[in-house]
Amino acid sequence: RGAWRGVVEEYRDWMPVSAATPVVTLGEGGTPLVRANVVSELTGCDVYLKVEGMNPTGSFKDRGMTVAISKAAEEGAKAVICASTGNTSASAAAYAVRAGMVCAVLIPDGKIALGKMSQALAHGAKILQVAGNFDDCLRLARDLADSYPVALVNSVNPARLAGQMSAAFEIADALGDAPDLHVLPVGNAGNISAYWMGFTEYEKAGLTTHRPRMYGFQAAGAAPFVSGAPVANPQTIATAIRIGNPASWDLAAAARDESGGLIEAVTDRQILSAYRLLSSREGVFVEPASASGVAGLLRLAEEGRLARGQRITVTVTGNGLKDPDWAINGAPTPPKVPVDASVAVGVLGLE
Ligand code: F0G
Repeated sequence: RGAWRGVVEEYRDWMPVSAATPVVTLGEGGTPLVRANVVSELTGCDVYLKVEGMNPTGSFKDRGMTVAISKAAEEGAKAVICASTGNTSASAAAYAVRAGMVCAVLIPDGKIALGKMSQALAHGAKILQVAGNFDDCLRLARDLADSYPVALVNSVNPARLAGQMSAAFEIADALGDAPDLHVLPVGNAGNISAYWMGFTEYEKAGLTTHRPRMYGFQAAGAAPFVSGAPVANPQTIATAIRIGNPASWDLAAAARDESGGLIEAVTDRQILSAYRLLSSREGVFVEPASASGVAGLLRLAEEGRLARGQRITVTVTGNGLKDPDWAINGAPTPPKVPVDASVAVGVLGLE
């Protein structure tokens, strides 16, 4: 097998591209599927993590962005725009550089994590900090894309969802079939929709015997699928999924219902506890929002609502380095020592 070529080339037959499409790629996809030994033990299931923080800009957004930017390039776009809680803007900014395009990003003022901001800045995006939340930013981005020559690369762009199907393909390819259950965080609801489309395509093609039930988890303060209506003022420490009015509402609800799945909420406390479990016991460092799937799975197991013995895949959506404050704040400051082995041994308790 040769080197990984990125999701457009690896899954070209499934992608909305032709020979005329200039493929703009950073080698995204091909991320590890890592067995979660501790979560498996705690749930009595066989649990795997799809580690999407290993993508080029550190989140799953790259899978969709390679397709969206390639299509924009094919259509002759000189500029792209997105609303973002941070990861989409980091990805759009990087792929726009590759394509020689201008990238405008609209972010909720003061509500995006440091690492994501550093990426958009490093890639030279034109950043506007909007006096509003993500939902306001998306409305503004849609208005601008409707009226000006700038391509919208949020997940309302179907190219994004097409690219994000590739994660479901990779999981089925790695396991040899679909899992029994697939679990993931839900924010703007594009990713759960894309996974369901991907698992559906593979089953239709006869590459898998079944489709998984889809279990999505939102943050309790930003859980419109739980309340059944948009949330006007969404609140959560998991800023990536601080979204009250998901754009892919209907697709996500269909994924939930057709699969016999669910979309529920987890508290910020449960999210942080899963975040710490992943980093301190599984060795997988994710950003807080990314831990909401694991948080939900553990809660279902505790409540006796998870049948044992299932094969379960959980998407952990973004890298822990995106939002390092949550690892640093509250942690003890490492002791300072002289260059002296006897002191170091004592402090480390190695005697
Ligand atoms: N996890 C992370 C780390 C995210 O950045 C997002 C969405 C989600 C989960 C939820 O995925 O929206 O497809 O349901 N982030 C978007 C952004 C909104 O702007 O980066 P979804």
